[in-house]
Amino acid sequence: MAIIMDGNGRWATSRGRPRLFGHQAGARRVSDIVETCPDLGIRYLTIFAFSTENWKRTQTEVSGLMTLFRRYITKEAQRLLQGGVRVRFIGDRERLDPKLARLMDELEQLTAANEALHLTVALNYGGRDEVTRATRRLAAEVAAGRLAPEDVDASTLARFLDTCSLPDPDLVIRTSGEARISNFLLWQSAYAEYEFVDTLWPDFDPDCFREVIGRYGNRDRRFGAVHG
Ligand code: FPP
Repeated sequence: MAIIMDGNGRWATSRGRPRLFGHQAGARRVSDIVETCPDLGIRYLTIFAFSTENWKRTQTEVSGLMTLFRRYITKEAQRLLQGGVRVRFIGDRERLDPKLARLMDELEQLTAANEALHLTVALNYGGRDEVTRATRRLAAEVAAGRLAPEDVDASTLARFLDTCSLPDPDLVIRTSGEARISNFLLWQSAYAEYEFVDTLWPDFDPDCFREVIGRYGNRDRRFGAVHG
């Protein structure tokens, strides 16, 4: 399961509040949705928190989001640990504030033995950037003579992706009525189903989540084949 959490800004603006107010409400929703996953039998959840394109937002919004991520990790670490959640981050950490990057590493280590829910947070993540970084590493292996070009297939490339230890998503949900994938899990979503819902992320409560999962359960997935 993967979610593009969209609509925080519009949610705040419609209330006459700054955009960051919407992101704060969005962060509370993350906790609600994470807590609902075990009831719904969801073992893997990947959420899009910050894209490689989001740096183009105002400095105030970007630094507000970075502070929010730091506070969220600090505040929620124990709850995630107790709740059996294993947290991983995908995306390029190089450009992130070292303090935030350290908190991310620590949370990954702290929760590494958990198995109830695998929560992956995409932070400074872009699908093209991920494939580019993976290709660079793969090319270095070829150049060093450790990998033969003719041995490179889809599964080889997948091993170099940030998501190498995760299953591909069955379903990608995007909130807020936009029907785009915005550079999210490009490689991994090759056979994913999509659900675009009008609800803005801060309003996307566990009931909305259950409803979307219910709709997905009725779909017939063929993976390119024809059922008899
Ligand atoms: C998109 O809404 C949302 C984001 C770019 C940030 C997502 C972040 C959160 C939900 C906050 C916390 C996350 C974690 C993991 C603690 P938008 O700002 O593009 O909304 P708009 O399209 O209405 O402007």
